[in-house]
Amino acid sequence: MVTVLSRAGIWLALLLLSVLAIVAAQDTGFAIQAGTVAVACLVGLWFAIKSPDYKQLASVAAAPAGDQSKYYDDVIRWGAIATVFWGVAGFLVGVIAALQLAYPDFNFEPYLNFGRVRPLHTSAVIFAFGGNALLATSFYVVQRTCRARLAFPGLARFVFWGYQLFIVLAATGYLLGISQGKEYAEPEWYVDLWLTVVWVAYLVVFGATIMKRSEPHIYVANWFYLSFIITVAMLHLVNNMAIPVSFLGAQSISWFGGVQGAMVQWWYGHNAVGFFLTAGFLGMMYYFVPKQAQRPVYSYRLSIIHFWALIFLYIWAGPHHLHYTALPDWAQTLGMIFSVMLWMPSWGGMINGLMTLNGAWDKLRTDPILRMFVMSIAFYGMSTFEGPMMSIKSVNSLSHYTAWTIGHVHSGALGWNGMVTFGAIYYLVPRLWNRERMYSLRMINWHFWTATIGIVFYAASMWVAGITQGLMWREFGADGYLVNSFADAVQAIHPMYVLRVVGGLLYLSGALVMVVNVWKTIAGSPLREEAPMYNVEYSAAADHPVVQPAE
Ligand code: HEM
Ligand code: HEM
Repeated sequence: MVTVLSRAGIWLALLLLSVLAIVAAQDTGFAIQAGTVAVACLVGLWFAIKSPDYKQLASVAAAPAGDQSKYYDDVIRWGAIATVFWGVAGFLVGVIAALQLAYPDFNFEPYLNFGRVRPLHTSAVIFAFGGNALLATSFYVVQRTCRARLAFPGLARFVFWGYQLFIVLAATGYLLGISQGKEYAEPEWYVDLWLTVVWVAYLVVFGATIMKRSEPHIYVANWFYLSFIITVAMLHLVNNMAIPVSFLGAQSISWFGGVQGAMVQWWYGHNAVGFFLTAGFLGMMYYFVPKQAQRPVYSYRLSIIHFWALIFLYIWAGPHHLHYTALPDWAQTLGMIFSVMLWMPSWGGMINGLMTLNGAWDKLRTDPILRMFVMSIAFYGMSTFEGPMMSIKSVNSLSHYTAWTIGHVHSGALGWNGMVTFGAIYYLVPRLWNRERMYSLRMINWHFWTATIGIVFYAASMWVAGITQGLMWREFGADGYLVNSFADAVQAIHPMYVLRVVGGLLYLSGALVMVVNVWKTIAGSPLREEAPMYNVEYSAAADHPVVQPAE
């Protein structure tokens, strides 16, 4: 009871502090953000007082009263739901952004103009959808592969809810126009500080679970997850170094300026791709693909070699985002060479993932979840071929600033990150809620096809648009003047922008099918009655040799 009171006291104190921050705020944006924190404190206070499970509330760090012989999966269940929720929200905002580029009338000033919607989309899909998928799967995988219960379940709950608060603060901030203007690192200083606290807690939970493992060997998926957690912490701390203009205001000034600032930003930006969207997701691949295919990893040795090669090379490739800028030429060339070399370890991962299906390829006919995984690995292979190619300076002089980059991003993001996450969700949901299998396999198959066709529309239209833009921008006439104005190029790619909306809508509709399927599975609805995924017709009457008529 005493601890319940002290917890309620802490919530109350935090609530009062946030109310004070609202009153003394230097700008409206900060006041609204402090108000959001106050609402979160109120919710926390309410739960602290009303929850009848007093033992559960006992302490943040102590294990909750639960069966110690079972894995701690509550946070993973919440994480799976959050992944689906933020995924749909992020895709929807993506479709709105795509509509705005095709039809400017979809800009609603000032809160929903493209400038605010775009970071809302990128953060929602990368950090909210991808981040929750990584949190949930890493906690699932580390327990199973270490044969150990999650360390500090109370802290794990803090990580989950703290991370959701980070997402809400970041998202509402963008809509209010609060941004430090660094791509993929838009949230302002106070949100960054909060994320640092949450991330350190994440590292403690994950690291402590590995330390209390009963398996002597640390399975390769955990290496990938750990490198993702540690590197993201490092990137986040360095790139967000800033001095607040006021301690009760939303603005700050970055520590770095000029070309150094650009270099730090793209060291961050590229490694966000390398460690958030790649290393963490490879961790997912290394657990879920062998499990779903019921085959061991094709080559464990290859997994270790490509792990070390990948993390050593990625960290140097950032300058390929700054070709033909004020960055010294040697640094650009260095970035280019490391990016080209990155092709090898990336394909090491792809080959290892695909070859894990050796001897199990027939399962693709009956198992739509495995299809998702295979498509995901195929897109990983394609985007990590395209990336090194685009990092070559002469290619980049055509692709940079154009929609080609956007096509590359989305073949990686929709194909690789999206599909592997969907596969993992379909794997996890029946196991986490103790169901025989997903409610409907046919619906997974529908999701697979709508998503795949959606990606094809998206990526192909952006490739065409990008190369059209690049070629039109660089076309000179005999008189030495540019042939096309910027608006000419915008007009030329309009049909491609419309096709992207179609692709986005298909991808979104697949995700909505997933929502229904996940919902029905969790609710425990009886399995959907449907034709099996693979059923070769057999007719006993037709099963005989053709008798030739006598001559
Ligand atoms: C329905 C699905 C989606 C649609 C319709 C969509 C649409 C868009 C649009 C219109 C943009 C702005 C492009 C521009 O500025 O020219 C964009 C940017 C971006 N999206 Fe998506 N998106 C979708 C899903 C995703 C997913 C799942 C991810 C990541 C996991 C993602 C990551 C990004 C990133 C990183 C950018 C910034 C790209 C850059 O600046 O180079 N998107 N998206
Ligand atoms: C070997 C692997 C890869 C290399 C060498 C690579 C290289 C590149 C290059 C050269 C660019 C264009 C930079 C510019 O002109 O501004 C780029 C952009 C981008 N790539 Fe990759 N890529 C790789 C894999 C991936 C994967 C797998 C993903 C996603 C899952 C991804 C996500 C992105 C994003 C989000 C951007 C846009 C950054 C921005 O906002 O400007 N890349 N990449």
